[in-house]
Amino acid sequence: MNRTPIRIFDTTLRDGEQSPGATLNFNEKLEIARQLETLGVDVIEAGFPITSKGDFEAVSAIAKELTGPIVCGLARAVPKDVERAGEAVKHAKHGRIHVFCATSKIHLEKKLRKGWDEVIKISVEQVKHARQYVDDVEFSPEDGSRTELDLLVEITQAVIEAGATTINIPDTVGYTTPAEYGNIFRYVRKKLPIIDENNIYLSSHCHDDLGLAVANSIAAVENGARQIECTVNGIGERAGNASLEEIVMALRTRSDFYAYETGIDPSKIYSTSRMVSQLTGLYVQRNKAIVGENAFAHESGIHQDGVIKHRETYEIMNPQEVGIPSNKLVLGKHSGRAALRDRLTELGYTVDDNTLNTVYESFKQLADKKKNVYDEDIEAMIETALETGIEADLWQLKQLQFTAGTNAIPTASVTLTDTTGTERTEAATGDGPVDAIYTAIQTITGVPAKLLSYSIRAVSEGRDAQGEVQVEVLHRDRRVRGRGVSTDIIESSAKAYLSAINRIRTLDRREEVLVDQKQP
Ligand code: KIV
Ligand code: ZN
Repeated sequence: MNRTPIRIFDTTLRDGEQSPGATLNFNEKLEIARQLETLGVDVIEAGFPITSKGDFEAVSAIAKELTGPIVCGLARAVPKDVERAGEAVKHAKHGRIHVFCATSKIHLEKKLRKGWDEVIKISVEQVKHARQYVDDVEFSPEDGSRTELDLLVEITQAVIEAGATTINIPDTVGYTTPAEYGNIFRYVRKKLPIIDENNIYLSSHCHDDLGLAVANSIAAVENGARQIECTVNGIGERAGNASLEEIVMALRTRSDFYAYETGIDPSKIYSTSRMVSQLTGLYVQRNKAIVGENAFAHESGIHQDGVIKHRETYEIMNPQEVGIPSNKLVLGKHSGRAALRDRLTELGYTVDDNTLNTVYESFKQLADKKKNVYDEDIEAMIETALETGIEADLWQLKQLQFTAGTNAIPTASVTLTDTTGTERTEAATGDGPVDAIYTAIQTITGVPAKLLSYSIRAVSEGRDAQGEVQVEVLHRDRRVRGRGVSTDIIESSAKAYLSAINRIRTLDRREEVLVDQKQP
């Protein structure tokens, strides 16, 4: 069967990062980008460079380092956005600018307050502007799936003539259905022979508000799209984007039905999913297709019996195909640096010697406290190491004491050190020990951070498992995540809150917001 190659455009670092609370720091973005290259994605949308200095720097660094995939920066149809995106990708081996402008009636009237002619004019101008920086320009008519078909055709033709090489028709609000979305692609392609004559790529970009994002993306491909925009674990605005792993495995597992192929190495899917979940703090739901904990678990006796007799009775994919390890390798206190490096590599992390040393130190300390060190422990350590030097060191936890119990007033005393080594101690009472600790930390640092959510989980198995605390705090109008890991859960709680506060201070300094993201 002749198979049509489909480009996988990964927007985990842009649309995915727009998930509330999922902000990634520079090191984390770079690590995920490297893993996406190993996974085999064709395009990485690395960020929205105009939005902040931090985003600009991350897109630039990714563009400089990666040589395989196309590295793309997003821009509104505004000169300063295009300029900034152009600057960010200028060192890329393969650079792309992705320009977007809303086209639906509701967006034009209620959001942009612009007429149709003006929308065409600014889109054409900014596609031409983008072509001055790169040969590869993508254009998206935002809210495309709710745009009148003939208007979609008109703007598509205009931006292709202006130099766009990929046209992405987004289902921005996750409203469309497979038949309807497929029809949009069929219609535009039929009306505009220029698309096939000039080898223009049509692309899908689907949000999952109705749970149809993957089905819609595949319907687009069946009607002529040759690029799919998606994210690892389906993270993204609101209900998220189409999930990369589901699309890839649907096309692969049903290759008897679908005549398409992608360049994704399926054996890297699981490690990529774990890494994105770990670094964004967005846990994968247990029953998530392909990468959820239960995706290959069989509970019912009848199913278990069937799988034991013949795996394919109830399993349509082999878990090893997507890189789920068949048995968990455990490290212990006699494991050396080389074994740790191997394990990190298998988990998808490319570590330099400094990072390896940092992780190794934590590994030795942990291995002294608990017998078995699992992959989950190693992932927790690498995340802490990736944070070090970015924000983790602004305030450090020096000492923590607390009292709590039935009929006792919870009291905590906290000592922190700052970057100059100066120590400060504060005591506070609260509803419970964690509340008391958070009040003391807030007094010392002077950073107001309202606790929005707090969750705790055991990182691995057994009574000696480390506890991981995730918090989300509100600082001004920004939600910021923090995370702490320790064998002592009260210490994890303190570390999580402190890491959120350190992140706020870093964001304030590095991510001086250059513009808000309102439309032109
Ligand atoms: O959902 C959307 O419309 C987008 C565009 C910027 C492509 O993310
Ligand atoms: Zn989107």
